[in-house]
Amino acid sequence: MSSTLKSHLTDLTHQSDRLSIAEFIKLLTEQFPGQVTFSSSFSYEDQVIAHEILSNQLPVSIFTLDTGRLFAETYSVWNNTNEKYHANITAYYPDYKLLETFVTEKGPNAFYESVENRKQCCFIRKVEPLKRALAGNAIWITGLRAEHSPDRNDLSVIEWDETNQIIKYNPILHWTTEQVKKYIDDNNVPYNPLHDRGFVSIGCAPCTRAVRPGEDFRAGRWWWEDAAKKECGLHIHK
Ligand code: ADX
Ligand code: SF4
Repeated sequence: MSSTLKSHLTDLTHQSDRLSIAEFIKLLTEQFPGQVTFSSSFSYEDQVIAHEILSNQLPVSIFTLDTGRLFAETYSVWNNTNEKYHANITAYYPDYKLLETFVTEKGPNAFYESVENRKQCCFIRKVEPLKRALAGNAIWITGLRAEHSPDRNDLSVIEWDETNQIIKYNPILHWTTEQVKKYIDDNNVPYNPLHDRGFVSIGCAPCTRAVRPGEDFRAGRWWWEDAAKKECGLHIHK
């Protein structure tokens, strides 16, 4: 399966260069029917892609990983998105047994105590559910953007995800923040009001803070840790 999938990379890269986002997603859904999925955290970026998919009625499954620790504002955008587009975004939850054991043994805020605890929490609440969400799919659409971290500058719009054995499509990888904001405004897309209060990259509430002017975009995520360790395991860059 993986070598067959991988053999599409060059052709898909050419096609994505010449088509609009909606046209290219349509082509993907024709080439891989029922196997194209989009992960949304309801960030600015993800709302752009959700709008492309939902307003064009493209047959892409949309899912979110509800860690149970999201901001109240994030649940509101989720709700508003379902209402506006008459959608039912699929929710994936952590395995309750793993989570019960982890929280019982280490407490509800163990992620502040060590990088190991933090990574375990991210594994249970995000990485393991992600594996279930991606199973059976050929294409994974994400809202990754290069501006968010130096690591993400090395990514490609179309790439092979070795960990998840899937083709990843990052349609707005090279968009600027201004482009994203303009798209949201022009198309009247529901968005997370935390973006208006200095939040750039939004994850779980206890692990995300606003960034100050001039600070790095990722400074608001796991701010108590070394910059080098600040990924949760959803996106592994080789
Ligand atoms: S993370 O690796 O630091 O958590 P980030 O918040 O930058 O990721 O988001 C990058 C992309 O990962 C999003 O555009 C989205 O596709 C996916 N993603 C992140 N968090 C979630 C989530 N809770 N549910 C679904 N997808 C997510
Ligand atoms: Fe847990 Fe924080 Fe990771 Fe969310 S971001 S899964 S609360 S460690």
